[in-house]
Amino acid sequence: MKDDVFYMKIAIANAKAMKGQTSPNPLVGAVIVQGGEIVGIGAHLKAGEPHAEIHALQMAGEKAKDADMYVTLEPCTHHGKTGPCTEAIINSGIKRVLIATQDPNPLVAGKGVSLLKQAGIEVEEGICKREADRLNVPFFHLIQTDFPYVILKSAISLDGKIATARQESKWITGTEAREEVKRLRQEADAVITGVETIIQDDAGLIVKDSIMTQPIRVILDSTLRIPLHAKCLTDHMAETIICTSRTYDQKKYDQLIQKGFHVFITSGEHRTDIHEVLKMLKERSVMSVLVEAGGNVSASFLEASLVNEAVIYMAPLLIGGKHAPTFFEGEGVKKLKEAIRPADIEYSMVGKDLKMTMRFQ
Ligand SMILES: NC(=O)c1ccc[n+]([C@@H]2O[C@H](COP(=O)([O-])OP(=O)(O)OC[C@H]3O[C@@H](n4cnc5c(N)ncnc54)[C@H](OP(=O)(O)O)[C@@H]3O)[C@@H](O)[C@H]2O)c1
Repeated sequence: MKDDVFYMKIAIANAKAMKGQTSPNPLVGAVIVQGGEIVGIGAHLKAGEPHAEIHALQMAGEKAKDADMYVTLEPCTHHGKTGPCTEAIINSGIKRVLIATQDPNPLVAGKGVSLLKQAGIEVEEGICKREADRLNVPFFHLIQTDFPYVILKSAISLDGKIATARQESKWITGTEAREEVKRLRQEADAVITGVETIIQDDAGLIVKDSIMTQPIRVILDSTLRIPLHAKCLTDHMAETIICTSRTYDQKKYDQLIQKGFHVFITSGEHRTDIHEVLKMLKERSVMSVLVEAGGNVSASFLEASLVNEAVIYMAPLLIGGKHAPTFFEGEGVKKLKEAIRPADIEYSMVGKDLKMTMRFQ
């Protein structure tokens, strides 16, 4: 006989498969088990579409009666774009509901559990809670702070360089690390870079060969220097938003608008205001953002304490040269005690590169 952890892990794996597709909704998976047999399985696929529990119930049909349901997040009780899941679970005759973690959304928190219990359903909470919490870090962050979750990625040499003095940066890391970066991009709702990375690398910022929704490309460009022939403006592979300051070039603005691009003007005097960019993205249902830029944009995010997580791949090579850019430019701190330090850090190897995953408070 398989145990509860076994079935919950299947529900978690189902939820995880939809990373980057459900924003601003959480990732949720559900499994229905009757006499040791899985009779229903589902995941939340997209905001506005049925929740994981409903997909699983539809598959189980009559077999849901007296069955156990494993669900990675507390079932909802509110009438959003779809009906409340608690109602559907109660009506289906499910006998026991096992929940990995509570929903922090004030519309749901604890209410889902109480309603199920009031209806005489046995409820157990906390199975695989850590994994389930980890799965929805960006969602929890958005609910708690009203800001998208920001992951900063950089590929650096042993001496912290992100390109040579002649701005050559392809490729510092190996194929395995680059494959991982593709996954990071796919899991994000938006990718932010600076105009210099567009000018120097003509970065396309898309996930190649993906059938999933591409992240929105966000270019920080305070005066609108972006070349009109840039790949991100001509390849039609994903939506592109150019974010500028009050000192933008009017002629270029008119050209971009005429071509149908979205130019977001922030109140920044000479630099695009990144707080306003994140707020604008949140309004567009963006839950997680990947900053994949040079040292100047990365420094702006780090100095403003807007980075939640940094994923740094360090390749075993030395670039050198005082004009070669590093991953953290900006003003720099004057004293060591002012240095930015992550709250925790994990190390692992990806091919021949060292991966450092840092979390900031
Ligand atoms: N190894 C890697 O992982 C990696 C990743 C990306 C890029 N790169 C390399 O990085 C190099 C470029 O570095 P970079 O630092 O110049 O590029 P960047 O950070 O991508 O772009 C910098 C530009 O962004 C604009 N910007 C707009 N708003 C900003 C804000 N709030 N804060 C900071 N900048 C803002 C500024 O130009 P305006 O003032 O004109 O707006 C600034 O000069 C290239 O050689 C590229 O190959 C490496």
